[in-house]
This record gives sequence, C-alpha cells and structure tokens, in this order.
Amino acid sequence: MSIRKVVQLLAVVVMVCAMAGAAVAGPIVIKFSHVVAEDTPKGLMANKFRDLVKERLGGKVVVEVYPNSQLFNDDKVMSAMLLGDVQLAAPALSKFEKYTKKLQLFDLPFLFKDMDAVERFQKSAKGKELLNSMTDKGILGLGYIHNGLKQLSSDKPLRVPEDAKGLKFRIMSSDVLAAQFDALDAVPVKKPFSEVFTLLQTKAIDGQENTWSNMYTQKFYEVQPYITVTNHGLLDYMVVTSTEFWNGLPGDVRTVLEKCLDEAITYGNKISSDLQVKARQDIADSGRSQIITLTPGQREQWVEIMKPVWKKFESEIGKDMVDAAVASNK
Ligand code: SIN
Repeated sequence: MSIRKVVQLLAVVVMVCAMAGAAVAGPIVIKFSHVVAEDTPKGLMANKFRDLVKERLGGKVVVEVYPNSQLFNDDKVMSAMLLGDVQLAAPALSKFEKYTKKLQLFDLPFLFKDMDAVERFQKSAKGKELLNSMTDKGILGLGYIHNGLKQLSSDKPLRVPEDAKGLKFRIMSSDVLAAQFDALDAVPVKKPFSEVFTLLQTKAIDGQENTWSNMYTQKFYEVQPYITVTNHGLLDYMVVTSTEFWNGLPGDVRTVLEKCLDEAITYGNKISSDLQVKARQDIADSGRSQIITLTPGQREQWVEIMKPVWKKFESEIGKDMVDAAVASNK
C-alpha cells in the first residue's frame, strides 16, 4: 500500500472515531438533586426547569430531577456537586455555612417582615452580590427560590419563649439557628431534613422549625400536636452549580439554560405563597395539629429574646448586608 493510501486510511479512521465519540457523548445531562417533595415551591420549580429545557434544548441537554433526597441528602449534595456527580442543587440558605459566612444573613431571626421584603432584598444589588459569595470555593449561585417563613412545631404548646426551655429542636446546619435556640435555653440538634420525621415520631426530638409546605408534605403535622405561628425566620434556597461545569458549557446552551432557570424561578416564586396558604389550611383541616396564634404581646417576647443573636454574627456577615436587608422591610 502506498504512503498516500495509508495516510488517507488513517484520516478516515480518525474521522470515524471522532464521530463515534460524539455519538457516545450524547446530550449534556444535568442532574438536579433536592431534598423536598415534588409538590413544594422548590420541587415544582425544578420540574418546570426540566420541562422548559426539554422544550427548548431537547436532544442537546437533558435535566434529570431527583427529589426527596433520592440521590443525595443535604450533608452530601454540595461535595457531590463539586465532584461532578450532580450539576444543580438548591439547598436552603442555612446550609452553606461551610462555604461562606455571608449567607448567615438569611438566618437572622425576625430579619424580614414578609416575603415581599425578602423578594426586594434578593433582587437588590446586595442580594445579587451574595450569589457570588462562594465563587472562591468553585460554587456559583444562579438565583434564589422562595419557600417561605418558618413556624415552630412542638410536642408542647409554645406561646411564650419560656415554653421552649429545655426542649430539643431539630435545626438545619447553621450556627445562627443554633444560637437562636440557645437564646431560648432550648437544645438545638443539627440533622438532615430526611431524618426529621423519624426523629419527631420516635420523640428523639421535641420540635422543629419549618414552613407550612414542608410540614405538610413531610407529614410533620401528623407527629407534632402543636404549631405556633411565629414567622420568625426565613426558609429560602439558592440554586447553585459548580463554576467549572457552568463555565464549561457552550455559550449558546448556557444562555438558554439561564433563561429557562429564570422563568422556572419566577414561576416557583409566584406559587410559593399560595402553597403556604394551602398547606396551612390542609394542616388545620386534618385536625392532627393545633395551630396556635400569638397575641402581639406574646410575639414581642420571642422577638426580644431572639433578636440579640444578630450582634454575634453581624461582623462575619457584614453590617452593610444587614442594613440592606433591614431597609428592604419598608
Ligand atoms: C428544604 O426545604 O430544602 C429543607 C429544609 C430543612 O432542612 O428543614
């Protein structure tokens, strides 16, 4: 065989191998792992994102959503993301403490008066700045998703802070939340979301704090006879990805993905407050849990005892951030 023929043959072999490689590579797969049920603001938002991507990038990108801690629980998902085992996650803002202290802001008790204030802050320049607070760790924030304000549930009726004394409360992995329960002389217990129902059912803990939609979809109300309407803290999420993965995407694909994500987030945030109202009503209708409404005087006692926690974390968070969040209340 002549040299020319050998070269031509090699060229054909290289081309066939390249084509086969491309075919094997297939679509870009984005695994989106989260810990809540599908009929929650985050669950519905994730499914909406999957559907929009299918519609607009079908064939090129496939989004696989894994709800209910099916793939990873809160303890594992961030390291899994940095290892490339999942590409998107949306942990509660309370769960990023290992990566940045700045997001502790969102855990300060009684910081936001309502979800409109939260929305105003997250859309502000300071709120957007926080999306980049973990880039030095290879984590990029793509947007915020609302769940809502938290309430306290317990085995015992909680009307004044004194009622919580000595009780064990499950909390997310946040030192601010630990300090909040320390201020009550209660016992904070950091545990993943996937374990809360069993801990409550077996009475290993006495109570927990969460939103109406999480308490309803995880059936906490079936094992917690009292829920006090405190609205004392926020449970929102940040959609995060690895900087390496996101920046490695083809530019045109990334632009479409960003648009799909924005639309999915807007959709999730729009339905979040209706979901809270419905979940609260469903819990009330179940008759399993008594809903306790505080008098203004009783609520003020919770504010007075929990709010001093701010001072402890203000320097790590940045006073400018705290002031900007407070300013969003008006
Ligand atoms: C979540 O809503 O993602 C979990 C909240 C929690 O851990 O309590």
